[in-house]
Amino acid sequence: MPLLLTNIGQLATPPALGPRRGSAMRELQLIEGAAIEGSGAGMISWLGPFSEWTGEIGEEIDMGGAAVIPGLVDPHTHCVWAGDRLVDFEARAAGVSYERILAAGGGIRSTVRATAEATLLDLISLARPRIARLVEGGATTIEIKSGYGIEPEVELRSLEAICTIRDKAKVRIVPTLLIHLPPAAAEERPTYLRMVTDELILKVAEQKLAAAVDVFIEREAWHPEEAAAIFRAADAAGLKVKAHVDQFHAIGGVATAIAHNALSVDHLEASGAAEIAEIAASGTVATLLPGVTLHLGIGAAPGRALIDAGAVVAVATDLNPGSSPLYSTQHALALAVRLNGLSPAEALVAGTVNAATALGLEDRGALVVGARADLLALEEPDWRSVAYTLGASPVARVFIAGEELAS
Ligand code: NIG
Ligand code: FE
Repeated sequence: MPLLLTNIGQLATPPALGPRRGSAMRELQLIEGAAIEGSGAGMISWLGPFSEWTGEIGEEIDMGGAAVIPGLVDPHTHCVWAGDRLVDFEARAAGVSYERILAAGGGIRSTVRATAEATLLDLISLARPRIARLVEGGATTIEIKSGYGIEPEVELRSLEAICTIRDKAKVRIVPTLLIHLPPAAAEERPTYLRMVTDELILKVAEQKLAAAVDVFIEREAWHPEEAAAIFRAADAAGLKVKAHVDQFHAIGGVATAIAHNALSVDHLEASGAAEIAEIAASGTVATLLPGVTLHLGIGAAPGRALIDAGAVVAVATDLNPGSSPLYSTQHALALAVRLNGLSPAEALVAGTVNAATALGLEDRGALVVGARADLLALEEPDWRSVAYTLGASPVARVFIAGEELAS
C-alpha cells in the first residue's frame, strides 16, 4: 500500500540520481513543508510541497517537522575482523608509525592472524553490531570488504560472513573482495598473486560472493603492475574494480586503477596535482576517508582541490580496527567538512549519490521519483546538522525502502 510521509519541515537532496562532479556538488534541491509518497515496492512515487498533494492519504507517517535527507551510502568499510589493534594504538601514540608497525609484522598482519582463528559464526557476530552502529549514523547502504583473510579460505569465509549478514539484513550490504597484502616472504609473492588471479577471483565470481575486487596499492602492499594483473583477472571474471591508493605514497596506483575503469580510488592522502588531474578527467570516483586522517594523524586527502578540478568526490568511514575506528557514516561527512575542505552541501552529495556511484549503484542517494525510498529524518529542523554534528548522532529515524527501522 502506498505510504505518505507528511510534515517534513525541510527536505534536502541532490536534485537527481547519478554522479555529480565539481561545482554541481554544491547544488541541492530544498523543499519546505514537503511530503513523500512511497510505493508498495519501496520506491518514491511522488514528492513535493504537501500543499500540492492531491491524492488520497492511506497510511500516513507524520515526520514532526524534521529535516529529511537521503539515506547515506558508506562505500568503503572493513566491518569483518577479529581481535583488536589497541597495542598498535598505544605504540602510535608513543610515536611509532603505522607503516613501521606493519613492516615489523604488526598492524594489518596482526588482524589477519586474529581473523584466521575466527569461525564463520564469530565473524558474523563480530560484524553485526558494527553494522548496526553505522545504520544508527544514517547508513542505508554499506560496502563491506574482506581482506583480513589473505589465505584464500579465510577470504572466502569473510565473504561468506558478509553475504550471510546481507541476506538477513534490512540495510543494503555490498560485498567486495579486498586483495590487501602480499605474503610477508617475498619469494611467495608471485605464487600468491597467481592463486589470486587464476583461482580466488574465479571462485568469488562463480559463487557471487562479491561485486568488485579492491587492491591495496602501496609500497608495503601491492605494486601497480601486480594490481594491474589482479584488475585484468577481475575484469575477465565480470567483477568491477576499485583500489586503496596514495595512502602514504603516490606510486602510480591512481593511473593504474583509472586505466582499468575503477569504480573508485580511495584514500588519496598523498595525492598531488598529477593524481588530482587524472581523477578529475576520469569517471572514477575519488573516495575520501577522513577518519584515517584523524586517527593516524596523516595529511588530509585534497578534497577541496579534487572538487575544484571537477572530480566526482565521495566520503566513507573506512571503518576498520587499524586506520579508522570510525563507526558513524554521518561523522565521516562531518569530518570531511573539517579536514578535507568540503562544504556541507558537498558533503551531503559526497555521502549520497556520489557514494552510490562508487558502488556502481544509481538507484539511490537522491530523493526523487523512481529512487529507492531510503531516507533519514534528522533530530534538527535544518539539514546542515548532518555535516555539523560531532559526537552524537543527529539521525532520528531511518527508513529503508520505505520501511522505518526500529530505533
Ligand atoms: O583502508 N590501507 C589499508 N587498509 C585499510 C587499513 C587496514 C588496517 O589498518 O587494518 C585502510 O586504511
Ligand atoms: Fe580501507
